[in-house]
Amino acid sequence: MTLSQSDRPYPISIVGAGPGAPDLITVRGQRLLTQADVVFYTGSLVPEQMLEHCRPDVEVIDTRSLVLETWRSQLVERARAGKKVVRLQDGDPCLYGALHELMVYLLAEHLEFEIVPGVSAFQAAAAHLKTELTVPNLVQTIILTRTQGKTDVPSREDLSQLAAHQASLCLYLSAHHCAKAQAQLLDHYPADTPMALCYRLGWPDEQVIVGQLDQMTDLTRTANLTRTVLYVISPALAGSAAARSRLYSGDHAHIFRPKSQV
Ligand SMILES: C[S@@+](CC[C@H](N)C(=O)[O-])C[C@H]1O[C@@H](n2cnc3c(N)ncnc32)[C@H](O)[C@@H]1O
Repeated sequence: MTLSQSDRPYPISIVGAGPGAPDLITVRGQRLLTQADVVFYTGSLVPEQMLEHCRPDVEVIDTRSLVLETWRSQLVERARAGKKVVRLQDGDPCLYGALHELMVYLLAEHLEFEIVPGVSAFQAAAAHLKTELTVPNLVQTIILTRTQGKTDVPSREDLSQLAAHQASLCLYLSAHHCAKAQAQLLDHYPADTPMALCYRLGWPDEQVIVGQLDQMTDLTRTANLTRTVLYVISPALAGSAAARSRLYSGDHAHIFRPKSQV
């Protein structure tokens, strides 16, 4: 039987899985996985252990070797058959997840969907490095970006232009082009800016290598890493004991703490 959207009791769930560790998914995402009849996931980016949250009789479709047209029609077919469908995406679905084209298709098919956020790789990296990426008087902006690969990046987002801000910069999908990225970043960041190379955070073979920006390419090549690398380039990685936010400062009054308690 095929159901129209008005007969369907639940939307398709697009769920952020987080970076890898099965316990870094949200409670809501985990609940949806436990209830799912079908899960579509990309096996190269989401570890299989994540499926331990699912029922034993769940249907699992690994989309890593399928083209979008193939798996999205399988997804719609199952949703129309009244199944609870989860599309499980690595990290957070709003970043580099081919989410836009899926949503356009679901809207055209008049199928409702919901999005459940996940922990993105840059947040997992900051936690691993025990770093706040926005340290007062040092850096207050985070840039999430990537280098040009097969996917076009608008020229106004050129890395050498973004580097001019010397913000905390998190570079996705760029290990193949690390030499070019390093050269562009060095147009503005000092050569000794701290840099962390984070490979498969939360996976059993996770590696985190900390160095400085002018070592980014050498460290990547020595470790022989070409995929699932996130680079964090930030003055905040050096740490500064003197920096202090005004949020908990005694001379800063706000609605929940009108008077100084110091
Ligand atoms: C297709 S993008 C998806 C990003 C994902 N939506 C997110 O929010 O993290 C894949 C890229 O994200 C980064 N990435 C994803 N998971 C990672 C992890 N566990 N460790 C390090 N980098 C990761 C890498 O730059 C990788 O090449």
